[in-house]
Amino acid sequence: MDFLELKNKNIIITGASSGIGRETAILLDDLGADLILTGRNLEKLEETKAQLKREPNIFQADLTIEEERTALIASLPKLEGVVNAAGIIYPFPLKFITEKHIKTVFDINFKAQALLNSALLKQKKIAEGCSFVFISSISSQFPYQGGALYTSAKAALEAYARTLALEHSAKKVRSNCISPGLVKTNIFEETLKASSAEELEKYEKNYPLGFGEPIDVANTIAFLLSNRSRWVTGQNIVLDGGLTLGSK
Ligand SMILES: NC(=O)c1ccc[n+]([C@@H]2O[C@H](COP(=O)([O-])OP(=O)(O)OC[C@H]3O[C@@H](n4cnc5c(N)ncnc54)[C@H](OP(=O)(O)O)[C@@H]3O)[C@@H](O)[C@H]2O)c1
Repeated sequence: MDFLELKNKNIIITGASSGIGRETAILLDDLGADLILTGRNLEKLEETKAQLKREPNIFQADLTIEEERTALIASLPKLEGVVNAAGIIYPFPLKFITEKHIKTVFDINFKAQALLNSALLKQKKIAEGCSFVFISSISSQFPYQGGALYTSAKAALEAYARTLALEHSAKKVRSNCISPGLVKTNIFEETLKASSAEELEKYEKNYPLGFGEPIDVANTIAFLLSNRSRWVTGQNIVLDGGLTLGSK
């Protein structure tokens, strides 16, 4: 038996059309999981599917739209794993924040995720022993300029994930967060646009092991979904290539 194996586990991955979600889909497929992949962009979901050996189910949905979220939930089998990898970054100076900005950032980074995961539990779509994984960010603990809303939404998500772990442990349901530093995805590209080459070079020096790759996060997600982590719950696992070593 492989060290990590996910055979016969139904696992949904949100944000599967890109970045960390896509890389996770490729790895979990390799480990034998039965996947449901969701995202807004059907073409990009199909691109993910084309990289898998097995046949996943694909469901196009904007998770901030109630009807689309409801239809997705109705289509699902009982799940052994839920990977919440959908999210947006939206840098904005704190003093200009309005209700509209709060809505944009919190709708997908917190509200839709809370509503989706709570509905899965309420509608009995969660199998005994299911593992929930949420993606926060190291920036909820180490803020960056312009990140007030993003980091606040991530901090809220961490608290939600811990409470889920507490409320549902009787059925051996587990819930954990991962807090990555900068990982090379679209979000990374967006961050780069706001920085000069010099700033970027200086920034990378803060990462003793360099910036992260999507597979670095996917590996930990696979561990959290597998039985190898059966005693791990309510945690927030930092993956940052040593970024925060100096601050401990
Ligand atoms: N990359 C980093 O440096 C980093 C660091 C810390 C945390 N994170 C977190 O990791 C997670 C994945 O990010 P990533 O880096 O992989 O970014 P990404 O490549 O931009 O992927 C984001 C995913 O979220 C989906 N999404 C966004 N809004 C959505 C909505 N309203 N409904 C449904 N899906 C939606 C996108 O779907 P479509 O493409 O189909 O629209 C896409 O699949 C995010 O929660 C992010 O905050 C990333």
